[in-house]
Amino acid sequence: MSLFKVYPLFDIEITKGKGSFVWGAEGTKYLDLYGGHAVISIGHSHPHYVSKISEQLNNVGFYSNSVQIPQQKELADKLVALSGKEGYELFFCNSGAEANENALKLASFYNGKKKVISFSKGFHGRTSLAVAVTDNPNIVAPVNETDNTIILPFNDEEALENAFAENEISSVIIEGIQGIGGIYLPTQSFMDKIRSLCDKHNAIYIADSVQCGYGRSGKFFAHDYYNIDADIYTMAKGMGNGFPVGGVLISPKFEAKFGMLGTTFGGNHLACAAGIAVLDILKEENLLENATSLGEYAINELKGISGVKEVRGRGLMIGIELDQEAGPIRGKLLKEHKIFSGSASNKNTIRLLPALNVGKEEIDTFINALKEVLK
Ligand SMILES: Cc1ncc(COP(=O)(O)O)c(C=O)c1O
Repeated sequence: MSLFKVYPLFDIEITKGKGSFVWGAEGTKYLDLYGGHAVISIGHSHPHYVSKISEQLNNVGFYSNSVQIPQQKELADKLVALSGKEGYELFFCNSGAEANENALKLASFYNGKKKVISFSKGFHGRTSLAVAVTDNPNIVAPVNETDNTIILPFNDEEALENAFAENEISSVIIEGIQGIGGIYLPTQSFMDKIRSLCDKHNAIYIADSVQCGYGRSGKFFAHDYYNIDADIYTMAKGMGNGFPVGGVLISPKFEAKFGMLGTTFGGNHLACAAGIAVLDILKEENLLENATSLGEYAINELKGISGVKEVRGRGLMIGIELDQEAGPIRGKLLKEHKIFSGSASNKNTIRLLPALNVGKEEIDTFINALKEVLK
């Protein structure tokens, strides 16, 4: 039997990873500035991560959400301490789409309304409502089509005001930095407008932090740059450094009821061990500070390279817009310089999403390689 071919694949098999490097089966060493799709937050096979998961597996790997799992509380406490979201509560799930699906549901349970606003170039996942609020008709199946979603132009305050005036809005979902779209930042006044319209109309502000959260931007949530608290933050990717963990961080205005949300695998012992290890390392190794300072350094250096039109982003979530298609350039970076980078739906953009403990030396390696391939 063959695999259902939904991914175009590189002819590379990764057999080992350490920090910001991975090795192919034949021994080639690659610099991973793609972080395995924005997932690797504390570096590949970090010793603390390996020992936490191994230790947990030697005790118990899984039991259901019908018993006490103190590791869930430990993770939640550490998450609140590092993110500063005092009083918020955590619901565990397994992926970014699931986190958004649950957030959108929770909003609708809360205010009894149905319509959701999202934005052009946004991506929120592939489950039914998450994909319906995603701006990509190619991945929306007819069964996912619904009248409950309104996709508005990004950063358009007038369109937002009109949508609120004409509809009963349940929630607004927005990435703190658009990822797959090509690394685009919302403006301060747009975020202020979302917050004030949600407050005025009893709607819920959902901060999709699946890609831009967990320290990637240099702050715990990229939304924190706007000095606004969202009602719900959704998380996945960097939360488990590769172990499938997702989470919904929920403000105190919501009241939980038994059975309201639920999952078989979410918050299991192994997932928590992975998640706790990530939070420990983010804190102990000051990785948010590293993301901020190295991100600033990288963005400044990249701006000066000939062939680079624009550099967007914050921290270690960087979009490099070239004056040509990025695909062939990324191909050369991989083939000639053994560097993994990310693509975006904006075809001229290279996305950098390295581990948050990447070093200056690795960033310099990339800068020199990019100069070389753009020559
Ligand atoms: C901003 C954002 N939201 C949601 C998702 C969906 O996450 P997952 O693939 O874990 O379901 C992604 C994945 O790329 C994402 O970038």
